[in-house]
Amino acid sequence: MDTPVTLQTQRLRLRPWLPADAEPFARMNADPEVMAHYPTRLTRAQSDEQMNRLARHITETGWGLWAVEVIDIEPFIGYCGLWPATFDAPFTPAIEIGWRIARPFWGKSYAFEAAEAAMNFGFETLGLAEIVSFTTPANVRSQRLMERLGMSRNPADDFDHPRLPVGHPMRPHVLYRKSRDLS
Ligand SMILES: CC(C)(COP(=O)(O)OP(=O)(O)OC[C@H]1O[C@@H](n2cnc3c(N)ncnc32)[C@H](O)[C@@H]1OP(=O)(O)O)[C@@H](O)C(=O)NCCC(=O)NCCS
Repeated sequence: MDTPVTLQTQRLRLRPWLPADAEPFARMNADPEVMAHYPTRLTRAQSDEQMNRLARHITETGWGLWAVEVIDIEPFIGYCGLWPATFDAPFTPAIEIGWRIARPFWGKSYAFEAAEAAMNFGFETLGLAEIVSFTTPANVRSQRLMERLGMSRNPADDFDHPRLPVGHPMRPHVLYRKSRDLS
């Protein structure tokens, strides 16, 4: 077990989860616009369960999908960070970078700022050789963020997400990757 890491950027803190995050997290997970590219919105119970899982990973490893706050402005705007992709796919096991930000906080480059810090942590502190990210083709906002982070997509890497049933409209996924800059 490692000491949980907190990352700080100019405007944001990526930190371990707090009990007070549960309510705004559940609100975000019930928002149809935020959840448009996930199979379902989450009930309060599902949201709490997911929060506990994310919090536990940080407690156990020191890193993960951190709660994001805007310093001195907003105590919780969503999550961002790194997560192990362990399902069966040609590129797994891998470490994924991911994010979910509440709707009022889109369009301010918060997700980018948080993800850049998480990505640097992954390459520099964890020493990862590669970080991946994936989503459905329709999730253009997320793909724009991946591109802003310098990740690139090879259509040959597109895959069907094995945790969604065959025929599910969200099963096809695009994969973006970025390797550590060794220069
Ligand atoms: C994906 C998601 C995090 C992207 O959020 P975002 O706010 O669009 O992303 P960024 O933080 O990169 O911000 C970029 C936007 O901020 C704007 N912006 C404002 N100030 C800026 C600044 N100083 N610098 C850069 N961009 C700035 C940009 O113009 C851009 O807006 P645009 O896309 O409308 O042109 C958000 O849409 C989300 O949480 N979606 C739901 C969850 C989800 O789908 N997660 C991924 C599942 S795989």
